Amino acid sequence: MIDSSFDVSYGRTVCFGVNYILNIFEGFLTELATWRKSVAKSGHFSVMAECKKGTHSDCSKECASHGPKIHDDVKDYYGKRVKKSSDLKSNACVAPAKPIPAFIRKALTDVHPDVTDKYYGCGLVVPECLEGRRVLDLGCGSGRDVYMLSTLVGEKGHITGVDMTEEQLEVARKYIEHHTQKCGFSKPNVDFIQGYIEGLEEAGLGENSYDIIISNCVVNLSPDKTRVLREAFRVLKDGGELYFSDIYSSGQLPREITSHKVLWGECFGGALCWEDLVRLAEEVGFSSPRLVTASTVTVDNEELESLLGDYKFVSATYRLFKIPKNTPKKSCLLTYDGNITGFEKALEFDCHYTFKVNDVVEVDGEVASILKTSRFAEEFTFQPDSQTSSGSCCAPAKAVPVNPFELVQQMKSGGTTSATEGCCGARKSC
Ligand SMILES: C[S@@+](CC[C@H](N)C(=O)[O-])C[C@H]1O[C@@H](n2cnc3c(N)ncnc32)[C@H](O)[C@@H]1O
Repeated sequence: MIDSSFDVSYGRTVCFGVNYILNIFEGFLTELATWRKSVAKSGHFSVMAECKKGTHSDCSKECASHGPKIHDDVKDYYGKRVKKSSDLKSNACVAPAKPIPAFIRKALTDVHPDVTDKYYGCGLVVPECLEGRRVLDLGCGSGRDVYMLSTLVGEKGHITGVDMTEEQLEVARKYIEHHTQKCGFSKPNVDFIQGYIEGLEEAGLGENSYDIIISNCVVNLSPDKTRVLREAFRVLKDGGELYFSDIYSSGQLPREITSHKVLWGECFGGALCWEDLVRLAEEVGFSSPRLVTASTVTVDNEELESLLGDYKFVSATYRLFKIPKNTPKKSCLLTYDGNITGFEKALEFDCHYTFKVNDVVEVDGEVASILKTSRFAEEFTFQPDSQTSSGSCCAPAKAVPVNPFELVQQMKSGGTTSATEGCCGARKSC
């Protein structure tokens, strides 16, 4: 016999259960709708919502498939929303790095004001030894750095700017003839290509074709930094260099920051934690990043400051080299010859090494391999390996990467990270 009371109470229980689940589901849908509205209102990237806290670089990989959305938003930011440097909502993209040497100031004054008005860089990207070189600028914008360097590479050199934003390239291309005449060149030594820095091959750039790559406040805007570095590595010649300024964060950024459209556009949301750059560079095959300089980035915007909370940001300039495979990394003694234009007395290679003319300096194994295999090889006199002191305190196979936040503090307090001063100082030559 069937117990109907059981049936009724069982039925009620099932109904109650189903209703309960439906109520929860309805609540969830309401919450979701409210969240989506608030996200739309605050300008968050919906695609970045999956990015997990504490795994920013993995998030970059994870979000690579959403890259087109980020590209479109960044294009919109630099093509339509921001028209000149003063339209930026923070100081990230205009932070000064260090005093500008006279010969670079001269090159800058020759750049057309319509181009400099749309400058959004965060550092000074002028590597030494430029004459006659083939240079590529990743995310050239309106072309300020391209035109500044075009005078320094000279008529025999060439510089190509790549950018994805049509409006930026329009300004850059408009002034090619103006700058060619200003430099007194018979034909332009610059060109501008529309393309993505993650897809230089698609943009028609072949492997082993550039001596130097520069970039100024752009890599942080890419949804896939690994691809950017891989592409840079591919198009560089052996011994070539990636010399670039960018914004770095003091820690792994949470989703609230990485998913915010304005914070991303202002160069904070996509900023790598500096240690991730060291890891990525080595993964791709570059030498360990050499820190040139760093400066604090101030936000100076209450709304953005409150979103960023305690995270700190610096603008840092790094140099990464494509050292040929199997190059020995042995410390060595060398002397800078003083023949590089603009650096006749000393060559400030990075925050660790300043090479004064005629000083004999012992460098670590990695710097030795960089200087011996790059365009700097002919600028130094290298002493035979046997003359290197063994067990030296100051010339390990590889130096420990410098934290740019610590460098900023040291620079403020007048301290030094220099290996060519202090206990491991340069030896005066005979
Ligand atoms: C902050 S602005 C810097 C522009 C320029 N380097 C300067 O110093 O004025 C960033 C530029 O990078 C470009 N950009 C950002 N992400 C890019 C990508 N994935 N591929 C190509 N260009 C990109 C933008 O279109 C914009 O022109």
